Parts: sequence; C-alpha cells; structure tokens
Amino acid sequence: MFTRAIVRPPGSNFADGLTTVNLGVPDYQKALEQHEQYCAALTQAGLTLTRLAADTRFPDATFMEDVAVATPRGAILTHPGAPTRAGEVETIRATLSQYYGPLSMIDAPGTLEGGDVCNAGDGHFLIGISRRTNEEGARQLSAWLARLGYTSQCVDFRDRRSILHLTTGMTALGHHRLAVVPELADHPALRDYELVRTVPGEAYAANCLRVNDVVLVAAGFPTFEAYLQRLGYHTVAVEMSEFQKMDGGLTCLSLRF
Ligand code: GLY
Repeated sequence: MFTRAIVRPPGSNFADGLTTVNLGVPDYQKALEQHEQYCAALTQAGLTLTRLAADTRFPDATFMEDVAVATPRGAILTHPGAPTRAGEVETIRATLSQYYGPLSMIDAPGTLEGGDVCNAGDGHFLIGISRRTNEEGARQLSAWLARLGYTSQCVDFRDRRSILHLTTGMTALGHHRLAVVPELADHPALRDYELVRTVPGEAYAANCLRVNDVVLVAAGFPTFEAYLQRLGYHTVAVEMSEFQKMDGGLTCLSLRF
C-alpha cells in the first residue's frame, strides 16, 4: 500500500537528457501537461504528493525512481551508473530523510539505478544487472535489503540490449504476476511468476504502475490494457509520449512509498 510519492516536473532542458530511442525531440509543454496528468492519476489513486521544483542542472531529474529505493521498512540512495545523473542523488536526500531519517547509500565502485529494482511482492525484490547497475551495486542493495528482512534475486539482462532498466521490460502487478516484454519472459529469474506478456508493438506498455487498487498504463496500448482489465485490474491510461522519447516510463516519474 502506497500513501506518498515524490515527483518533479521536467525542466526546460528535459530534451538534453539521455535517450537510446529514436522517437524525436520531446515537446516541453506537452511533457509538462502529461506530467500533470500523471500527478493527477497518482492523487486519484490515493497518494499525497511531494512536488519538488524542476532542476535544470540535471535534464533527467524528472525520472525520480532512479535516485533512491524506497521500501516500507527503509530507503536507500542509489549511485547512478549514468555519470550525468550522479548529482541527482543529493537533490532528494533532504526530502526523503524527512520520512525515513538518515539515509545510507550505494557506494562506488557499486552503481545502481532505482529503475533496475522491482518490488515483486511478498517481501521479494528483483534487481536488474544492466548497463546502469553493476554486480557490486546489486550486491550492496541485496545486503541492505536482507538487513531489513527482505529477500532478493539478481536478473542479469545485459545480453538483452533493447532494455534499458529492468522496469523498462518488467513491472509487478501484485498477485505474483509480472507484466513483461517477450524478450525478458524466458529469463530464469522470472520462472516462478505468472507473466502477462506484451504483444508485438506494445513493448512500452510493460512499464505499468500498480498503485493500490489502480494500474496506471501508458495510453495507446489497447491490447495490453484490455488484457489487464480482463484479469480484473482497474486501469487508468496516462499519455506518456514525451517521456517515452526520453526513455522514461510510468514508474520512472515518481518515488513511491
Ligand atoms: N532518460 C532516462 C535515463 O536514461 O536515465
């Protein structure tokens, strides 16, 4: 159950951020509107939002999920593998400390981005080993989670080059279910879960966001959304086109706890 989320709107230089996709330059005004729609959906789902100011020092800073891992029992600051994102971490420390007290962090040579961490449910976390999160970062997070009484498992997907973060290709739906792109579906770490696969052309939809009784889905992926509805989920579609252009998804835009 989430009660809060920290969000930050994109800054005016949002288009200067990192991206691996080739979908064109994002429209800043449209991105702001989509961010507002996203915030409204979180509020509607029952969350109280802490809204940070846009920070043009870091063009990717709207992607809050990457700078910390927040759990019901504690939070930890990360150490982004993308050098241009490293400075974002300190911009969240004071806000997050208000809720969790003093925070520990992932230390070099470990790297870890929150987008590579999935709370799969039942106290178990999946930690992606990716271009941004290395084995040492995953080891540190796993040890920290264990101290809090959680279990974890690594999902090394460095051979699946089209997936940036673990949550780009996979998100938790509760009920021991994962939304997943076909490229990741055969990964041995996922074999104990019921998988809800995206269909061709809808891979982006695998990054959906369950918030309490609602699942936020990216607008424009009707087969996936209808599938979730048939499974009994209440879905809310959010326009994400401008964030998709910058390799961002629904989970990336907030830190929930
Ligand atoms: N643009 C989000 C990221 O690459 O981290």
